[in-house]
Amino acid sequence: MKRIFILLIVCLLLTSCQGVSKEEEKTSIRIGISLYRGDDTFINNIRSIIEEKAKEYERESGIKVTLDIQEAKGSQNTQNNQVERFISLGCDVLCINPVDRTDTSLIIDKAMTAGVPVVFFNRQPVEEDMNRWDKLFYVGVDAKETAVLQGQMVVDLYRKQPEAVDLNEDGVVSYVMLEGETSHQDSLIRTEWSVQTLKDGRVSIERITGGIANWERSQASALMEQWLTEYPDTIELVISNNDDMALGAIDALERAQVTGVNVIGIDGTTPGLEAIENGKLLGTVSANKDLYCSAILELAASCALEKALPEEYPLTDETYFWTPQEIIITKIKENP
Ligand code: GAL
Repeated sequence: MKRIFILLIVCLLLTSCQGVSKEEEKTSIRIGISLYRGDDTFINNIRSIIEEKAKEYERESGIKVTLDIQEAKGSQNTQNNQVERFISLGCDVLCINPVDRTDTSLIIDKAMTAGVPVVFFNRQPVEEDMNRWDKLFYVGVDAKETAVLQGQMVVDLYRKQPEAVDLNEDGVVSYVMLEGETSHQDSLIRTEWSVQTLKDGRVSIERITGGIANWERSQASALMEQWLTEYPDTIELVISNNDDMALGAIDALERAQVTGVNVIGIDGTTPGLEAIENGKLLGTVSANKDLYCSAILELAASCALEKALPEEYPLTDETYFWTPQEIIITKIKENP
């Protein structure tokens, strides 16, 4: 009899506890987002899509999502302060596009102490930092895959119409290379593997010159202007680590009234896609931005609500979401 009584009490206690946790289930979440810079075209594209995704999530789940978005203006110190502020404001989770991907330890320290999970994106922290806590995630693209796709688009065109790539038909494609920030994991890998893919695809190539333009259109435009003067009638192909620098090269080509040179980029930004539509940019490699941004949002929301991540977002090593990518090429060159 005594046993049955105790069992009854335990059952009652259990059901009442469940009732409390139901009532306490979160109906709103707050996400702190810090961008390495606010004037980067690709990052701005991502920002707008994350904002759309947050509204979509709110509509579908009935959970209110507050986004606090800050720009770090290229300063790691500013970003560290933003993280501190997000935590003091009670953010449930942080989405960080780090300024210096090799210097995220302070952000991680603060987040770990406060028990606030972090979803990093686009600028990949070093593995040693990522391994410090099981509440650290990363959303991005595989840099080698990007570069191989970029090289592949030229190899494919060369096989179909060699004269569309080897403009002077001397059997060698002479190219210049525009590189992004030296500290970014994407720059080195993109530079190396786009060229390697051309070689593997048996396109004879010759590097005329190259330079670092830090992802920026104006810096790339200045470099290209200089190269057009230094190497007149020589450049057949411009390989750019991103669309903005590719557009800078196109600006310089237009100013110098040089036509026919192929320019390839990466990102599939809005202005990049417009240039492809107009036949100015041969092509680009674009991550599925919809998926990229919903992965960031869903990961953040599932951390904030302490729920499992939906199955559509498989994580490598329970940490990394690698977004699929595709080639987008101008129809004008494909079907001359
Ligand atoms: C790269 C992108 C660049 C720039 C950079 C910022 O992945 O291709 O355009 O946005 O990230 O970290």
